[in-house]
Amino acid sequence: MTPEKFAYIETFVCQMNERDSEIMGQLLREENYHPTRDISRADLVLINTCSIRDKAEQKVYSLLGRLKKYKQKKQAMIIAVAGCVAQQEGERLSSRMPLVDIVVGTQNIYRISQLVRDVELKRQRHIATGLSHSFVIPRHLPAPPDQAPSFSPKEEVFKKFVTIMQGCNNFCTYCVVPFTRGREVSKGVDDILSEITVLASQGIREITLLGQNVNSYGMDKGPEHVRFPELLALVAEIEAITRIRFTTSHPKDLSADLIDCFAQIDKLCPHFHLPVQSGSDRILNKMNRKYTVESYLDKVAALRRVRPDIALTTDIIVGFPGEGDDDFAKTMELLEAVRYHGAFSFKYSDRPLARSSSFADKVDDGVRGERLTMLQARQDQISLEVNCGYVGREMEVMIEGESKSAHGQWRGRTGTNQIVNFPATGTLTPGDMRTVRIEEGCLHSLRGTLLT
Ligand code: 5AD
Ligand code: SF4
Repeated sequence: MTPEKFAYIETFVCQMNERDSEIMGQLLREENYHPTRDISRADLVLINTCSIRDKAEQKVYSLLGRLKKYKQKKQAMIIAVAGCVAQQEGERLSSRMPLVDIVVGTQNIYRISQLVRDVELKRQRHIATGLSHSFVIPRHLPAPPDQAPSFSPKEEVFKKFVTIMQGCNNFCTYCVVPFTRGREVSKGVDDILSEITVLASQGIREITLLGQNVNSYGMDKGPEHVRFPELLALVAEIEAITRIRFTTSHPKDLSADLIDCFAQIDKLCPHFHLPVQSGSDRILNKMNRKYTVESYLDKVAALRRVRPDIALTTDIIVGFPGEGDDDFAKTMELLEAVRYHGAFSFKYSDRPLARSSSFADKVDDGVRGERLTMLQARQDQISLEVNCGYVGREMEVMIEGESKSAHGQWRGRTGTNQIVNFPATGTLTPGDMRTVRIEEGCLHSLRGTLLT
């Protein structure tokens, strides 16, 4: 019998990476690798990286630096780097970090087993970073639960991400993604539905459909292909799936048909992550976002008309090149106009290949920092006020689990994607639906009591 081997997988941010790591974990399991959270025990260390903002990238290099001592002790340890940094840096990463054996780009993750096998047998280094317009996302059926390895401490047994498309055609001027993930490629409808059907048979109740811009699902396949609203309706037909979410959406592609889905499809959770990036038309134009604040607000109003309880969240970049005080003031006004449940906000950073890296009028780092602090402080107040507005309401939650630190304290998630903490005696089952009454609103969560 072949001896057991251990793999350690570290995944940096983004949901697309989480799903890619799960897929690579399953492929490695088929190569007899078992999960470990102890690097010194690992025969293979796989780092799935992100390069969307500069901090994410620095973290990758510092982790690789820390791996040197492990590899010195255990020469046979295979070190693989996947994801956007791997795609972007390719050869450079390999020469800057000679300890790296495999550099596997974003379209090549499905080849991980073969690459690892090659290194095991021949100690030959590999750089697999091809990006092709004619890439086809392979069909990937999940392993049965007893063989599904959990390489991630966060992996859940009742909800999953399912990738429906990869890449992006939008070329927002600040963004590296079109360069690291290539052009939009949609996965086949039948492959998506069979993947979800298998997941449902394994106990998964909630599905999040994933893509850089899910609103343009199918458009790369021609006018006859199933579009995103139709795909949602097909997923909703899978009986055991009780909740459907999706992310991420580009506001310019948010169609009336998709808005209508929130009225038609009960299983579709009333939450929409709609990245606005800036509240100034001048900056949106420099970002190449192809919408105006007015058209964005019209879509927000339309969503609220069909689903008054819908929760909206967003992404915002502060300090984009040329952003003046007046532009930033407009972003602050937008927060008041929309009153998001929450916002992810970032200081602009130059990214390799992104067009804005060469723009003049870079905003001073101190100013970017001040704007970020100001924006986050105001958004925090709004989030708290919004959350307090739920006090007294009865809400359905999907059980997520018991608190690790406080026995008898449970956590559930509302359709609006809010966490509700509540006490309960006995054992609840993750994935089950329960009703809670909200007693208190906090900054990032709600507190409640269990009713049923
Ligand atoms: N600088 C800062 N934030 C960025 N984002 C993407 N690129 C950059 C960049 N160069 C943010 C956007 C995007 C989110 C995923 O990351 O807000 O929606
Ligand atoms: Fe990047 Fe814009 Fe594509 Fe989103 S839509 S991945 S921000 S280029």
